[in-house]
Order: sequence, then C-alpha cells, then structure tokens
Amino acid sequence: MNQTSDKLLLSALRGETLPRPPIWLMRQAGRYLPEYRALRGQAKSFLDFCLTPDLAVEATLQPIRRYGFDAAILFSDILVIPHALGQKVWFEEGRGPQLEAIQRPEDLARLSQDGLHEALAAVYETVRRLREELPAEVTLIGFAGAPWTVASYMLEGGSSKDFAAGKRWAYGATEDFQRLIDLLVEATGDYLIAQIDAGAEVVQIFDSWAGVWPEEALRRWCLGPAKALTARIKAERPQVPVILFPRGAGLLYRDFAQDSGADALGLDTTLPLAWAREELQSKLTVQGNLDPLRLVAGGEGLRGDIERILQELGGGPFIFNLGHGIVPQTPLDHVEAMLEQIRGWTAAERRAG
Ligand code: CP3
Repeated sequence: MNQTSDKLLLSALRGETLPRPPIWLMRQAGRYLPEYRALRGQAKSFLDFCLTPDLAVEATLQPIRRYGFDAAILFSDILVIPHALGQKVWFEEGRGPQLEAIQRPEDLARLSQDGLHEALAAVYETVRRLREELPAEVTLIGFAGAPWTVASYMLEGGSSKDFAAGKRWAYGATEDFQRLIDLLVEATGDYLIAQIDAGAEVVQIFDSWAGVWPEEALRRWCLGPAKALTARIKAERPQVPVILFPRGAGLLYRDFAQDSGADALGLDTTLPLAWAREELQSKLTVQGNLDPLRLVAGGEGLRGDIERILQELGGGPFIFNLGHGIVPQTPLDHVEAMLEQIRGWTAAERRAG
C-alpha cells in the first residue's frame, strides 16, 4: 500500500505536465459536508477535535470518500502551534478563533518550545494512521501556518481587519517581533519535520495574510521565513515537496517563485492566469485558483472559470485547487460538477488533439 511513485499530486510537484491535473481543495474537510457537521458534534471543542486522532482521521477521510480527491490534507488547524507553545487558544461558535493576546515582550518570554512535540503528539498519531488508511493513489499533505499568519493571531488575539497589533510590533518593536518570528520558524520547522516522519508526503505552508504588507516588510516577514522553512525541509527531508501559499502577495509572487526554493506556489483568487503562467509556472508548479464563491454560485459562470483556468494553466505543471478555502455554504453538487468537468477535460482535449 501507499507506493509513492505514480501518485498524480507527486508527479505534478516534480514538475510534470499531466493529462489531467490532480485536484484537492483547501479546507476540503469542513462545514459544507453534512458528515463533518455530525462528527464535529462529537467533540467537546474544536481544538479537542483537532487533537483526537479518531475524529481527525475520520474528518480527513470524509472528503476523500465522498469525492475521491487526489490528495488528503491532514485535519488540524494552524493555531495548534500557539497552543503547543503555551498560549491559550479557543474557538467560539460564530466568532472564530480566540487567543489570550500577547501584549508585552514579557508575554513572549513565557512561550516555550519544550512541550511542543508532546502537545502535538496526537497530530503525529493522526498522520501515522492516515498513512495506513488512505487509498494507495491518494497523497497525504501535512501543513502548518506560516510564521507571520500565526503571529498575527497570537498578537491580535484572534482574527483582524487591519492587523494593527502585528504591524505595531513589526514597525515599533522590531527586535521583539523578529524574536517571535524566529521562534515560529523553529517550532514550525520541527512540527513539519515530525509530520513528515509520521508519514506526510507533501507539506503546505499557509500564509493567508501575506497580502497586508508593503514590499520590504513582505520580503522580511513572509518570504524570509518561507525560505528558511523550505531550506530546512530540503536539507533534512529532501524528498518531500513544499507548497507555499502566500495569499495576496501580488507581484511579489514572482520573488517567491525565484527565491523561496519551494516546489509549488498556491495562487490566490486574484492572480491573473496568463501572468501566472508566464512568470511563475515557467519556474515551478502552480496550484489554484478558482474563487470559492464562484463554486458557491455554480452554473455557467463556474464552468467558464474552470475552463479558463484549465486552458491557461493545464498545459504545464499544475494542481487544480481553489484560491482560498472552501466556504460552508458551498452546495455539494457544485463540487461534484467541478470534479466532473476537470476529470473530463483531458478526454475532450485528447479528442480535439
Ligand atoms: O484544509 C483542510 O481541510 C484541513 C483543515 C484546516 C482547517 N484550518 C480546519 C478548520 C486547515 C488547513 C486550516 C488552516 C487555517 N486555519 C488557516 C489558513 C488557511 C486559510 O483558510 O486562510 C487559518 C487562517 C486558520 C485559522 C482558523 N481556523 C480560522 C480563522 C477559523 C475560523 C473560520 C472558520 O472557517 O470557521 C478556524 C476554524 C476551522 N479550522 C474550521 C475548520 C474546519 C471550522 C471550525 C468548526 O468546524 O467549527
């Protein structure tokens, strides 16, 4: 079981152009699935859900069973890292994540990496079991949040509209902010390597809030840490492909393509396809970038957007995905229609050729 040689996702990540692109969706395990909502009801809290292998394994497998995606992404959350470093994290219904915000440099000093692997042992157990249970052709993706995106939640105490706390630290207490980013680079690297050793075949790093920075800050707080993490994985586990998702990085996606050392870039919804093909796909594999709200709307508009993405990017190394996570109101039959179109695409192209 679980031979890694001819899995579609791994081939695409090696730079191969495939007859049809592999497909998986960010947040593919989630509230749009009725079976997820039922399972979620069995856990005391969302963090408990992530840290209970029986539940996390089941949540990971649900979208694979229903839709047969080419990859499974570990069910967990990026905020298990602050939790493992000793920060209080909880999820409130309708309010999203809440954290006891780090307000002063003294609060930073209380974070500790000593208990990291112990606090995350349940995640590694989930990965091990998934590797046993997944069908041989499905690739297992491990993940973590990028240092900046995780730091933003740690400093704001939750989600934010303006990232004022994070920017206040970065611009006004630069050395302290750098210490937090460095700590997260180290902890995240340890965490990803442990996921790999437990059986993750690919890792993706989510920098969901990369797009809030001016140029130099984005290079320093997003590209720099991404490079450091990728370099560490390449040095210590060279066989494992790395996907970066620097959402909102705009023209600086080009710097990620040139300098990050990653095998693939996750494209956000806003990136022009022809530009991405010329500037990015010429250098590495690209993944994306259907608008999740287009998938909600469905119909001819959805068909047209999928067709454009396939036409522009399907002729090179490419992984079909959304440009951000799937949303809870997504109709199940729209996901089905999308899959049918993508799986049928090559057949049609081959007929034409
Ligand atoms: O992709 C997958 O299916 C794997 C699981 C996964 C989750 N979160 C489960 C989750 C992954 C990869 C994440 C990443 C994540 N978490 C990110 C980066 C990607 C992105 O979407 O930008 C971020 C910023 C978070 C932090 C987070 N977790 C937020 C802001 C929220 C609340 C918003 C929401 O969608 O509810 C969460 C909660 C969360 N993480 C849920 C799931 C399925 C929903 C919680 C629930 O079921 O009650």
